[in-house]
Amino acid sequence: MLVSMKSLLDHADENTYAVMAMNSINIEMVRAGIEAATEERSPIIIQMGPGQIAKHAHLDAIVPVVRALAEKAPVPIALNLDHGARLEDEVRAIQEGFTNVMIDASSLPFEENVQRTRTVVTLAHPKGVSVEAELGHVGQAAAGDGRTDDMYTDVAQACEFVERTGCDALAVAIGTAHGTYPKGYVPKLDFNRLAELKRALQMPLVLHGGSGSGEENLKAAVAGGINKINVCTDAFQAAKEGMLALLSENPAADFLALQMAAEASIKAFVKKYLHIIGSNDRYTYAAFDSGSKE
Ligand code: 13P
Repeated sequence: MLVSMKSLLDHADENTYAVMAMNSINIEMVRAGIEAATEERSPIIIQMGPGQIAKHAHLDAIVPVVRALAEKAPVPIALNLDHGARLEDEVRAIQEGFTNVMIDASSLPFEENVQRTRTVVTLAHPKGVSVEAELGHVGQAAAGDGRTDDMYTDVAQACEFVERTGCDALAVAIGTAHGTYPKGYVPKLDFNRLAELKRALQMPLVLHGGSGSGEENLKAAVAGGINKINVCTDAFQAAKEGMLALLSENPAADFLALQMAAEASIKAFVKKYLHIIGSNDRYTYAAFDSGSKE
Protein backbone atom coordinates (compact mmCIF):
# COMPACT_ATOMS: atom_id res chain seq x y z
CA MET A 1 0.00 0.00 0.00
CA LEU A 2 1.08 3.55 -0.67
CA VAL A 3 1.30 5.57 2.55
CA SER A 4 2.59 8.91 3.76
CA MET A 5 6.31 8.92 4.44
CA LYS A 6 5.64 10.54 7.80
CA SER A 7 3.73 7.47 9.00
CA LEU A 8 6.67 5.22 8.05
CA LEU A 9 9.25 7.42 9.71
CA ASP A 10 7.25 7.97 12.88
CA HIS A 11 6.98 4.19 13.30
CA ALA A 12 10.72 3.84 12.65
CA ASP A 13 11.45 6.62 15.15
CA GLU A 14 9.31 4.99 17.85
CA ASN A 15 10.98 1.62 17.27
CA THR A 16 14.59 2.69 16.57
CA TYR A 17 15.17 1.48 13.04
CA ALA A 18 15.58 3.14 9.66
CA VAL A 19 13.68 2.89 6.38
CA MET A 20 15.68 2.58 3.17
CA ALA A 21 14.93 5.22 0.54
CA MET A 22 16.19 3.95 -2.80
CA ASN A 23 16.55 6.23 -5.79
CA SER A 24 14.73 4.26 -8.47
CA ILE A 25 14.71 5.21 -12.12
CA ASN A 26 12.84 2.42 -13.86
CA ILE A 27 10.42 -0.45 -13.40
CA GLU A 28 13.20 -2.90 -12.58
CA MET A 29 14.41 -0.81 -9.65
CA VAL A 30 10.92 -0.08 -8.34
CA ARG A 31 9.91 -3.74 -8.51
CA ALA A 32 13.19 -4.96 -6.99
CA GLY A 33 12.74 -2.58 -4.05
CA ILE A 34 9.09 -3.41 -3.43
CA GLU A 35 9.59 -7.17 -3.78
CA ALA A 36 12.59 -7.11 -1.46
CA ALA A 37 10.58 -5.14 1.11
CA THR A 38 7.65 -7.52 0.76
CA GLU A 39 9.78 -10.60 1.29
CA GLU A 40 11.48 -9.02 4.30
CA ARG A 41 8.20 -7.65 5.77
CA SER A 42 9.77 -4.22 5.68
CA PRO A 43 8.65 -0.75 4.65
CA ILE A 44 10.56 0.97 1.84
CA ILE A 45 10.65 4.40 0.24
CA ILE A 46 10.88 4.72 -3.51
CA GLN A 47 12.32 8.06 -4.53
CA MET A 48 13.72 9.96 -7.43
CA GLY A 49 15.36 13.36 -7.81
CA PRO A 50 14.59 16.10 -10.35
CA GLY A 51 17.64 15.25 -12.48
CA GLN A 52 16.71 11.56 -12.61
CA ILE A 53 13.11 12.50 -13.44
CA ALA A 54 14.17 14.86 -16.24
CA LYS A 55 16.64 12.41 -17.79
CA HIS A 56 14.85 9.10 -17.50
CA ALA A 57 12.21 8.53 -14.79
CA HIS A 58 9.52 10.69 -16.39
CA LEU A 59 6.72 11.14 -13.91
CA ASP A 60 3.85 10.35 -16.27
CA ALA A 61 5.36 6.88 -16.77
CA ILE A 62 7.04 6.06 -13.46
CA VAL A 63 4.33 7.20 -11.02
CA PRO A 64 1.69 4.76 -12.37
CA VAL A 65 4.29 1.97 -12.09
CA VAL A 66 5.06 2.83 -8.46
CA ARG A 67 1.38 3.20 -7.65
CA ALA A 68 0.41 -0.14 -9.25
CA LEU A 69 3.20 -2.10 -7.56
CA ALA A 70 2.84 -0.33 -4.20
CA GLU A 71 -0.91 -0.74 -4.03
CA LYS A 72 -0.78 -4.49 -4.31
CA ALA A 73 2.16 -4.81 -1.90
CA PRO A 74 1.24 -5.95 1.59
CA VAL A 75 3.89 -3.70 3.18
CA PRO A 76 3.77 0.11 3.36
CA ILE A 77 5.55 2.01 0.59
CA ALA A 78 6.15 5.76 0.35
CA LEU A 79 6.95 7.75 -2.79
CA ASN A 80 9.32 10.66 -2.23
CA LEU A 81 10.62 13.51 -4.35
CA ASP A 82 14.34 13.51 -3.47
CA HIS A 83 16.20 16.85 -3.40
CA GLY A 84 13.37 18.95 -4.79
CA ALA A 85 14.54 22.52 -5.19
CA ARG A 86 12.20 24.40 -7.54
CA LEU A 87 8.69 25.19 -6.38
CA GLU A 88 7.27 23.89 -9.66
CA ASP A 89 8.84 20.47 -9.03
CA GLU A 90 7.34 20.34 -5.54
CA VAL A 91 3.88 21.28 -6.84
CA ARG A 92 4.05 18.73 -9.65
CA ALA A 93 5.10 15.94 -7.27
CA ILE A 94 2.25 16.79 -4.89
CA GLN A 95 -0.20 16.77 -7.82
CA GLU A 96 1.18 13.45 -9.08
CA GLY A 97 0.49 11.75 -5.76
CA PHE A 98 3.93 11.61 -4.15
CA THR A 99 3.42 10.92 -0.46
CA ASN A 100 6.41 13.03 0.61
CA VAL A 101 8.44 15.80 -0.93
CA MET A 102 11.91 16.86 0.07
CA ILE A 103 12.78 20.52 -0.24
CA ASP A 104 16.53 20.93 -0.32
CA ALA A 105 17.47 24.55 0.20
CA SER A 106 20.45 23.55 2.33
CA SER A 107 23.01 25.38 0.22
CA LEU A 108 21.12 28.67 0.70
CA PRO A 109 21.39 30.99 3.71
CA PHE A 110 19.48 29.83 6.82
CA GLU A 111 16.68 32.37 6.50
CA GLU A 112 16.01 31.46 2.87
CA ASN A 113 16.04 27.75 3.71
CA VAL A 114 13.43 28.46 6.42
CA GLN A 115 11.22 30.44 4.03
CA ARG A 116 11.38 27.92 1.17
CA THR A 117 10.78 24.97 3.47
CA ARG A 118 7.88 26.73 5.16
CA THR A 119 6.30 27.46 1.77
CA VAL A 120 6.51 23.80 0.73
CA VAL A 121 5.08 22.65 4.07
CA THR A 122 2.16 25.05 3.55
CA LEU A 123 1.49 23.54 0.11
CA ALA A 124 2.05 19.88 1.01
CA HIS A 125 0.41 19.38 4.39
CA PRO A 126 -3.16 20.26 3.34
CA LYS A 127 -2.85 17.51 0.68
CA GLY A 128 -1.70 14.95 3.25
CA VAL A 129 1.86 15.00 1.87
CA SER A 130 4.71 15.12 4.38
CA VAL A 131 7.91 17.14 3.96
CA GLU A 132 11.62 16.40 4.45
CA ALA A 133 14.03 19.32 4.64
CA GLU A 134 17.80 19.59 5.02
CA LEU A 135 19.88 21.75 7.32
CA GLY A 136 23.65 21.80 7.27
CA HIS A 137 24.73 20.46 3.90
CA VAL A 138 25.48 16.94 2.71
CA GLY A 139 27.85 17.48 -0.21
CA GLN A 140 29.62 15.28 -2.74
CA ALA A 141 32.05 12.50 -1.84
CA ALA A 142 34.10 13.24 -4.97
CA ALA A 143 34.67 16.80 -3.74
CA GLY A 144 35.85 15.56 -0.34
CA ASP A 145 32.75 16.99 1.37
CA GLY A 146 31.83 15.74 4.83
CA ARG A 147 35.42 15.30 6.05
CA THR A 148 35.33 18.42 8.21
CA ASP A 149 32.51 19.73 10.34
CA ASP A 150 32.09 23.05 8.53
CA MET A 151 28.90 21.86 6.80
CA TYR A 152 27.52 19.81 9.72
CA THR A 153 24.07 20.55 11.14
CA ASP A 154 24.10 22.99 14.05
CA VAL A 155 21.88 21.80 16.92
CA ALA A 156 20.47 25.15 18.05
CA GLN A 157 19.79 26.18 14.45
CA ALA A 158 18.07 22.85 13.80
CA CYS A 159 15.66 23.42 16.71
CA GLU A 160 14.75 26.86 15.39
CA PHE A 161 14.45 25.51 11.85
CA VAL A 162 12.03 22.72 12.74
CA GLU A 163 9.98 25.00 14.98
CA ARG A 164 9.61 27.62 12.24
CA THR A 165 9.08 25.34 9.25
CA GLY A 166 6.98 22.48 10.65
CA CYS A 167 8.88 19.94 8.49
CA ASP A 168 8.23 16.26 9.28
CA ALA A 169 11.75 14.88 8.87
CA LEU A 170 15.16 16.52 8.81
CA ALA A 171 18.19 15.47 6.77
CA VAL A 172 21.27 16.14 8.85
CA ALA A 173 24.91 16.52 7.88
CA ILE A 174 27.14 14.42 10.18
CA GLY A 175 29.91 13.24 7.86
CA THR A 176 28.44 11.36 4.92
CA ALA A 177 28.51 12.64 1.33
CA HIS A 178 26.72 11.71 -1.89
CA GLY A 179 28.32 9.41 -4.45
CA THR A 180 31.48 7.31 -4.47
CA TYR A 181 34.16 7.85 -1.84
CA PRO A 182 37.81 7.45 -2.82
CA LYS A 183 38.87 3.79 -2.80
CA GLY A 184 39.36 2.50 0.74
CA TYR A 185 37.90 5.59 2.40
CA VAL A 186 35.14 5.01 4.95
CA PRO A 187 33.50 8.20 6.25
CA LYS A 188 33.90 9.11 9.89
CA LEU A 189 30.51 10.08 11.26
CA ASP A 190 30.01 12.51 14.13
CA PHE A 191 27.86 10.37 16.42
CA ASN A 192 28.06 12.90 19.24
CA ARG A 193 26.45 15.47 16.98
CA LEU A 194 23.81 12.96 15.98
CA ALA A 195 23.02 12.21 19.64
CA GLU A 196 22.69 15.93 20.40
CA LEU A 197 20.44 16.46 17.39
CA LYS A 198 18.21 13.54 18.29
CA ARG A 199 17.94 14.59 21.93
CA ALA A 200 17.07 18.15 20.99
CA LEU A 201 14.72 17.44 18.07
CA GLN A 202 13.07 14.12 18.97
CA MET A 203 11.84 13.60 15.42
CA PRO A 204 12.73 11.41 12.41
CA LEU A 205 16.24 12.20 11.13
CA VAL A 206 17.52 11.36 7.66
CA LEU A 207 20.97 10.28 6.48
CA HIS A 208 21.84 11.12 2.88
CA GLY A 209 24.76 9.47 1.11
CA GLY A 210 24.01 5.97 2.40
CA SER A 211 26.31 4.37 -0.17
CA GLY A 212 29.79 3.26 0.82
CA SER A 213 29.22 4.31 4.43
CA GLY A 214 30.13 0.92 5.91
CA GLU A 215 27.92 -1.48 7.81
CA GLU A 216 29.16 -0.43 11.25
CA ASN A 217 28.51 3.24 10.57
CA LEU A 218 25.02 2.49 9.28
CA LYS A 219 24.14 0.40 12.33
CA ALA A 220 25.49 3.03 14.72
CA ALA A 221 23.63 5.77 12.84
CA VAL A 222 20.38 3.83 13.21
CA ALA A 223 21.03 3.22 16.91
CA GLY A 224 21.70 6.95 17.26
CA GLY A 225 18.37 8.00 15.79
CA ILE A 226 18.57 7.98 11.99
CA ASN A 227 15.20 6.78 10.61
CA LYS A 228 15.65 7.10 6.84
CA ILE A 229 18.74 6.27 4.81
CA ASN A 230 19.05 7.42 1.21
CA VAL A 231 20.81 5.07 -1.18
CA CYS A 232 21.50 5.67 -4.84
CA THR A 233 25.08 4.93 -5.91
CA ASP A 234 25.26 1.45 -4.34
CA ALA A 235 21.90 0.44 -5.85
CA PHE A 236 22.99 1.57 -9.33
CA GLN A 237 26.25 -0.32 -8.79
CA ALA A 238 24.36 -3.48 -7.81
CA ALA A 239 22.38 -3.24 -11.07
CA LYS A 240 25.56 -2.79 -13.10
CA GLU A 241 27.33 -5.66 -11.37
CA GLY A 242 24.38 -7.95 -12.04
CA MET A 243 24.60 -7.19 -15.75
CA LEU A 244 28.40 -7.45 -15.87
CA ALA A 245 28.34 -10.84 -14.12
CA LEU A 246 25.87 -12.17 -16.66
CA LEU A 247 27.85 -10.75 -19.58
CA SER A 248 31.08 -12.30 -18.37
CA GLU A 249 29.31 -15.64 -18.09
CA ASN A 250 27.43 -15.28 -21.35
CA PRO A 251 28.54 -12.46 -23.70
CA ALA A 252 25.55 -13.22 -25.96
CA ALA A 253 23.01 -12.46 -23.19
CA ASP A 254 20.18 -10.38 -24.63
CA PHE A 255 18.62 -7.18 -23.34
CA LEU A 256 15.81 -8.96 -21.51
CA ALA A 257 18.24 -11.24 -19.69
CA LEU A 258 20.37 -8.22 -18.74
CA GLN A 259 17.39 -6.36 -17.30
CA MET A 260 16.41 -9.42 -15.30
CA ALA A 261 19.97 -9.85 -14.01
CA ALA A 262 20.04 -6.21 -12.95
CA GLU A 263 16.71 -6.53 -11.14
CA ALA A 264 17.74 -9.70 -9.31
CA SER A 265 21.00 -8.09 -8.23
CA ILE A 266 19.27 -4.94 -6.91
CA LYS A 267 16.75 -7.06 -5.05
CA ALA A 268 19.48 -9.07 -3.32
CA PHE A 269 21.29 -5.84 -2.43
CA VAL A 270 18.13 -4.27 -0.96
CA LYS A 271 17.27 -7.35 1.09
CA LYS A 272 20.71 -7.25 2.67
CA TYR A 273 20.48 -3.51 3.31
CA LEU A 274 17.09 -3.85 5.04
CA HIS A 275 18.66 -6.21 7.57
CA ILE A 276 21.58 -3.85 8.22
CA ILE A 277 19.26 -0.95 9.03
CA GLY A 278 16.83 -3.10 10.99
CA SER A 279 13.61 -2.60 9.02
CA ASN A 280 13.03 -6.30 8.31
CA ASP A 281 10.18 -8.06 10.09
CA ARG A 282 8.49 -4.84 11.14
CA TYR A 283 5.19 -5.71 9.49
CA THR A 284 3.17 -8.91 9.46
CA TYR A 285 0.44 -9.78 7.05
CA ALA A 286 -1.81 -12.76 7.21
CA ALA A 287 -2.18 -13.26 3.46
CA PHE A 288 1.57 -13.51 2.98
CA ASP A 289 1.98 -15.88 5.91
CA SER A 290 -0.63 -18.22 4.47
CA GLY A 291 1.29 -18.32 1.22
CA SER A 292 -0.88 -16.01 -0.88
CA LYS A 293 -0.09 -12.40 -1.59
CA GLU A 294 -3.51 -11.60 -3.02
P1 13P B 1 24.37 7.96 -2.45
O1 13P B 1 24.36 8.02 -3.95
O2 13P B 1 25.70 8.32 -1.88
O3 13P B 1 23.83 6.70 -1.92
O4 13P B 1 23.39 9.14 -1.94
C1 13P B 1 22.04 9.04 -2.20
C2 13P B 1 21.28 10.17 -1.64
O5 13P B 1 21.57 10.67 -0.58
C3 13P B 1 20.11 10.64 -2.41
O6 13P B 1 19.51 11.72 -1.82
